[in-house]
Amino acid sequence: MDEVQSRKLHHIEVALDPRVDFEDNCSDLYREIQLVHRAFPGFELGDVDSSLEFLGYRLEAPLMITGMTGGHPSLTGINRALAELAEKKRVAIGVGSQRAIVTSGFREDVVASYRVVRDVARDVPVIGNIGLNTLNDVEYDTIVKLVEVLEADALAIHLNPAQEVIQPEGDTRFNHRLLEKVRELVKTLGKPVIVKEVGNGLSMETVKVFHDAGVRIYDVAGACGTNWALVEALRNQPGTPRYECGIMLAKWGIPTPLSVIETRFTATDSFIIASGGVWDGFKAAVNIVLGADMAGLAKPLLKKLLKEGLKQAETYLDTYVFELKTAMFLSGARTLRELREAPVILGGRVTGIMLQRGIDPATYLRQVRRGF
Ligand SMILES: Cc1cc2nc3c(=O)[nH]c(=O)nc-3n(C[C@H](O)[C@H](O)[C@H](O)COP(=O)(O)O)c2cc1C
Repeated sequence: MDEVQSRKLHHIEVALDPRVDFEDNCSDLYREIQLVHRAFPGFELGDVDSSLEFLGYRLEAPLMITGMTGGHPSLTGINRALAELAEKKRVAIGVGSQRAIVTSGFREDVVASYRVVRDVARDVPVIGNIGLNTLNDVEYDTIVKLVEVLEADALAIHLNPAQEVIQPEGDTRFNHRLLEKVRELVKTLGKPVIVKEVGNGLSMETVKVFHDAGVRIYDVAGACGTNWALVEALRNQPGTPRYECGIMLAKWGIPTPLSVIETRFTATDSFIIASGGVWDGFKAAVNIVLGADMAGLAKPLLKKLLKEGLKQAETYLDTYVFELKTAMFLSGARTLRELREAPVILGGRVTGIMLQRGIDPATYLRQVRRGF
């Protein structure tokens, strides 16, 4: 087992530890974002349609199981189970970083641990995954091959500088010249490129540079769910600079709903996935009203699967979609388009932050509702 493979296994173990979540999953912030209750929706719960089109597939719900794993034969079973869930519930699915395929020299069993996702999830979008910093070392043709071996419908490029700083074997080469590589991939890959964070959120400054490079799909992965700086901190010895600094990053980042606002404000024409602690259907609804097109989730599904089994993981997804449909019903939204138009009340903390970031809340909400 090489170093990349064994790190993937260790990550799963540490990531499931509740100590590595952002405090309270931003419940204080979500309390400041209220959908308005509609006592007379004007239709029946059964009329609610949460389906949408994404990357050429019709999905039952605006949801993606975002990239987590792959890279070691013992992870094939996890990816197979996640893919079964995605296919059955008709939601999108991503794989974890495909770097292990490169470091293993495209070894068959390593490729198979990712490829199983496409083999099982035939009728939903499957998303490849690579770190932006990995583009420093990997040839363009190799990236094309990573997409091909997965028959991926899109490639997610993840930005994880906070994680890399704290990771004992971290790679912090997030140089400006990488933007040229992204621009090249957008132009010639033949599949859409998604830019995603891993849990510290995308700001308008970050989105702006990738939007200029041609990227039109973003997964905000905001600071409300899994905190990768904390995951990496726990992989260091207490008292060492990386451990102590990692603990200091417990609250670092842009909370998910604010990151959705910053991303939509900057990339008005793009498809936006709200993830990072979006662990129930009500939070998904709130983020869609704020400007997201879809929700994404990672850790809680993996945790259900590993601790309680496939059936409970399926029930979790059923509950999630039921919550989302309930939020739509009680907001008077029959479709996701109507959900986007639903009224929302923002508390002073949220509007204050928006104003400081140069976003006028009333104008923003009007534009989000009507389209920019
Ligand atoms: C065990 C685990 C492994 C992950 N590995 C990757 C990865 O390889 N590439 C990536 O882009 N994101 C990775 N992520 C990040 C998720 O895709 C997601 O952005 C992040 O966990 C926030 O979502 P959550 O709060 O629902 O967990 C991983 C998450 C988990 C829990």
